[in-house]
Amino acid sequence: MSDAPKPLVFSGMQPTNTLHLGNYLGALKNWVKIQERMPCIYCVVDMHAITAEAGYAKPAELIRSTREVAAAYIAAGVDPTRSILCNQAQIPAHAELAWIFNCVARLGWLDRMTQFKEKSGKHKERASVGLYTYPVLMAADILLYKATHVPVGEDQKQHLELARDVAQKFNNDFGAPDFFPLPEPVIQGPGTRVMSLRDGSKKMSKSDESDYSRINLTDGADAIAQKIRKAKTDPAPLPDSEKGLEGRPEAENLINIYAALADEPRAAVIAQFAGQQFSAFKVALADLAVARLTPVAAEMRRLLADPAEIDRTLKAGAARASAIAEPILADVKKLVGFLV
Ligand code: TRP
Repeated sequence: MSDAPKPLVFSGMQPTNTLHLGNYLGALKNWVKIQERMPCIYCVVDMHAITAEAGYAKPAELIRSTREVAAAYIAAGVDPTRSILCNQAQIPAHAELAWIFNCVARLGWLDRMTQFKEKSGKHKERASVGLYTYPVLMAADILLYKATHVPVGEDQKQHLELARDVAQKFNNDFGAPDFFPLPEPVIQGPGTRVMSLRDGSKKMSKSDESDYSRINLTDGADAIAQKIRKAKTDPAPLPDSEKGLEGRPEAENLINIYAALADEPRAAVIAQFAGQQFSAFKVALADLAVARLTPVAAEMRRLLADPAEIDRTLKAGAARASAIAEPILADVKKLVGFLV
């Protein structure tokens, strides 16, 4: 019997386009909390960003976005002296392990990935090979550190299952039953799934053509207040119970956002605003959102004013990450039969 694997958290975000409230409430706030309890590695996954058009052959934008996402991590509260903050491309072991995992994962597994089907659309033959093998790189990100806990959104659950399959098959095929732990998803609660402000049934997304559908992390106070004022609602007043939110996705979304920003249970927010009109609730929500988000945006701006400092932080993070990854990768190479 071997010891239970040491707990370690790994998560990442792609540096493409603008970060929004969904990234903040759904991921970053959660990451900051977990770092109190467990050692964490938070990575800006720039190698994933070049798998699709949004990040491909746009070097200046990619660098800007990589720094911006790193700044967002720090501004949201990720402590780069405690947690490891890094960007993937500075740690060559990610690519090395991904190659080995490309030989472990089966075509049939990747063929089942729903995100590839969505992202490649009608013209699969024009998608990059990188987009197809994206989940294999993600498995390498996690297992390179023998991470045990992976905070991800609902949409990444299938990729995490693939990482578990890769770990299991590697352990099995190379006769090392406990070598890789099977990483567990840490799925965010329903309260942190942030929906579009224009359509309560759609996820808030950076790719939505309407900027009124989302609150960007860098929006100023006026933009935040205006987007909340214009958010879609229904004509009824706010309900007096959680049950009263059923069938009212826009009301539910705004209540969820309020509860997440205030760090209060949903029931408490509902009790506070029961029977009120949306106009009054929206004023309170806008005040709260401005109070919570504008300091994050200001801190991001302050950090981004000194890109060299962000670069130093990422370089130091890469060195710490490599110190964990290199011995694990060396063991993998030994198991595989590479002369090293
Ligand atoms: N695919 C993830 C997303 O788009 C990002 C990601 C890449 C990731 N590697 C990871 C998340 C490893 C968690 C762990 O959200």
